[in-house]
Amino acid sequence: MQTRNQPQQTVIRQMLLSSSQVPTLPLNVKAPLKWSGGKAALVNDLVLMLPDKIKNTYFPCCGAGSMFFEMKRRDLFSGKAFLTDKNDNLVNFFRVLRDHPWELVSMLDLRHARYGGGGRAIFDLAVDELHSDQSTDLQRAASFWIYNKTASFSAVSKEIRRNAYSDVFATEKDISRQAIRYLLTFGKMLEGTVIENECYTQTFRRALLDGTNSFTFIDPPYFEVGDGLYEPEDKEKPKDGFDFAKFSRACERLLGEHNLMVTLDANESSLEKLNFMKQYRHSVFYRGTKKYEDEQVAINYLPKFWEATTGMLNWEDISPDWAA
Ligand SMILES: C[S@@+](CC[C@H](N)C(=O)[O-])C[C@H]1O[C@@H](n2cnc3c(N)ncnc32)[C@H](O)[C@@H]1O
Repeated sequence: MQTRNQPQQTVIRQMLLSSSQVPTLPLNVKAPLKWSGGKAALVNDLVLMLPDKIKNTYFPCCGAGSMFFEMKRRDLFSGKAFLTDKNDNLVNFFRVLRDHPWELVSMLDLRHARYGGGGRAIFDLAVDELHSDQSTDLQRAASFWIYNKTASFSAVSKEIRRNAYSDVFATEKDISRQAIRYLLTFGKMLEGTVIENECYTQTFRRALLDGTNSFTFIDPPYFEVGDGLYEPEDKEKPKDGFDFAKFSRACERLLGEHNLMVTLDANESSLEKLNFMKQYRHSVFYRGTKKYEDEQVAINYLPKFWEATTGMLNWEDISPDWAA
């Protein structure tokens, strides 16, 4: 329900917001969203494996973008960043966050004031807005963030579903005013980035044209689960399953002048897909299944801190002979 003085309240809120500082992110806050297969827990290690001197940097299949935000926070590239993904709600959220962070925060603050932190009512409103074709991009972005904070971990990167609500995640902590305020910092970090709703193959094409001193980080769907975590569950809808053979060929084409880092699971088939690169195996704890699983990091260059990091990271070098 709209109250009569709501427009006035919005203006006052915006004035108060814009007179305050953009907060500094705590070191453990890596991305504005949680995401299936997200790399937030690994980025502190991954940045140690980066090449020296990065100009432009590409993040196809960017998901919540934790690697981009970590590289930005540490000032690890000097040129432009390209964030791309095939999930259109995600891409709209990042664009609104880049272009209208104050408006987004103000809208979320108002909803927080009206509904409190988590809870079914704020979730239901978010689902309605995400399903409605009358919603503005700003409303969709606010609703997508709320949905992300109140839905279960495995549901956030798929289609919007009313039964995705999770009591565990929909807590005051997940939709705190502080969490809303951190969006201003993430928005600032996105200034000047190119954000596109496109297939990774298009982003690889951009990167190919760029060449020397540019870098691509890609964390595609995992071989074991394929597109399952990112595709609609609707059996009627055709699935455009992730084609790993095509992905492998695309990576091979990108090498040469270009620096590439790929993270993927580490079973026999997925290791074979990247066996033309230097490959490292390590163990990762999955929050979903609460189990440790093997993953690989594949690169085609010598990292800046090579000597220091290889021992320290405790990653097993499983590179084919030529790359050892
Ligand atoms: C493992 S997640 C990336 C997680 C991310 N690294 C993070 O830290 O949050 C994989 C992403 O690939 C995207 N994706 C899947 N197939 C794609 C394709 N063909 N082109 C572009 N993006 C794709 C999904 O939407 C999903 O966001």
